[in-house]
Amino acid sequence: MNPFELSTETIEDLVRQNGTPIYVVSREKIRENFKRLDDGLPAVKFFYAMKANPCHEILQTLMAAGAGFDVASKGEILAAVAAGADPKEDLIFADTVKDPRQIAYAHSIGLDDFTFDNHSEITQIARHAPGAKVHLRIVVSNKGSVAHLSHKFGADVEDAIPLLLAARDQGLVPRGISFHVGSQCLDAQRYVEALDTTHGIFEKALAAGIELKTIDIGGGFPVHYIDEDIDIEDMCRTIREHYRKLFGEDSGRTCHLMAEPGRAIVGDAMILVTKVISESVRQGQNWLYFDDGTYGSFMEVLLYQMKFPWRTNTRGPMTPYVLAGPTCDSIDVFSRDSGGEICTVDLPEMHLDDLLIAGSMGAYTFSESTRFNGFEPPKFVFFD
Ligand SMILES: Cc1ncc(COP(=O)(O)O)c(C=O)c1O
Repeated sequence: MNPFELSTETIEDLVRQNGTPIYVVSREKIRENFKRLDDGLPAVKFFYAMKANPCHEILQTLMAAGAGFDVASKGEILAAVAAGADPKEDLIFADTVKDPRQIAYAHSIGLDDFTFDNHSEITQIARHAPGAKVHLRIVVSNKGSVAHLSHKFGADVEDAIPLLLAARDQGLVPRGISFHVGSQCLDAQRYVEALDTTHGIFEKALAAGIELKTIDIGGGFPVHYIDEDIDIEDMCRTIREHYRKLFGEDSGRTCHLMAEPGRAIVGDAMILVTKVISESVRQGQNWLYFDDGTYGSFMEVLLYQMKFPWRTNTRGPMTPYVLAGPTCDSIDVFSRDSGGEICTVDLPEMHLDDLLIAGSMGAYTFSESTRFNGFEPPKFVFFD
């Protein structure tokens, strides 16, 4: 069950027991989201991108469901191992910008799958994790996705073969190609195009004497926030069928598929409940101040103009409000329009101690929250 459907009475009970702000999480929904991807792409080994939400209980739930983890740092490796992950079997170091000391640490505990997209990473991996398996991340189109990742990551396609050869020459094992179509990708054609590009690189690599064996299709699978038209099964079918056409049995290849979904696993499995701690009228506008804000769970409002579904535990007349967090910075306002400007939103009349219930708050909320001004992140409450 999506916790956004919990009754107001149940949420008020949870607040009485736990205070605010709280995250209310459904483990069952996490398992359901994982299973939907796992069923839709049965040939894929899934490495949950724990940057989306590294809460220990969530990692444990996914471990038990059969997931591995995409890790980006020593901190994430330690969290994955604490949840029961085997570094060799269950982890891929998928950030292409790695601190060499963290490469060495990963290698020392047996992690041996690394993603790279430039020559200096090859040098660092070869130095600190000699003989490791490496996956070349390439640039692919992120058109239409909410968070574009190809601005910063991925080698140009024409550099792919020289990079793979350089990796091999430095004693690494070039295993395959990795890409990311951008987070909250709403168009399965992005995966189709990326698979086409990958296929071209596989052919050229073979001609250059390198037999690639893995394709990491990254993350990007979307979550329902407000009015997106999402059909994960259909997206998986499109990917599956295109993969089969290019790399299936008839192609004479043996290929292993991997994926690193984050948002689609946890996004709609968690809600935030935050309380009005102050209110004012500024230049004729009603302001509500909450015990969580932009420096806490709503960072993505600033970064990507994300809009979350929300409701309140109040019943008064609809009233326009500016919604703000508790910190000393005036950027800490999380009612913003699609251009990122501060705006009002209409909510049933609210006052001190009333609750705002924000849905689809599982991904890139807790993990992006800061400790600015000494505010702690919300407490996790599991309701099943
Ligand atoms: C390397 C990598 N893999 C996977 C993900 C997860 O993406 P998503 O949450 O869109 O599934 C990200 C997100 O930033 C990423 O950088």
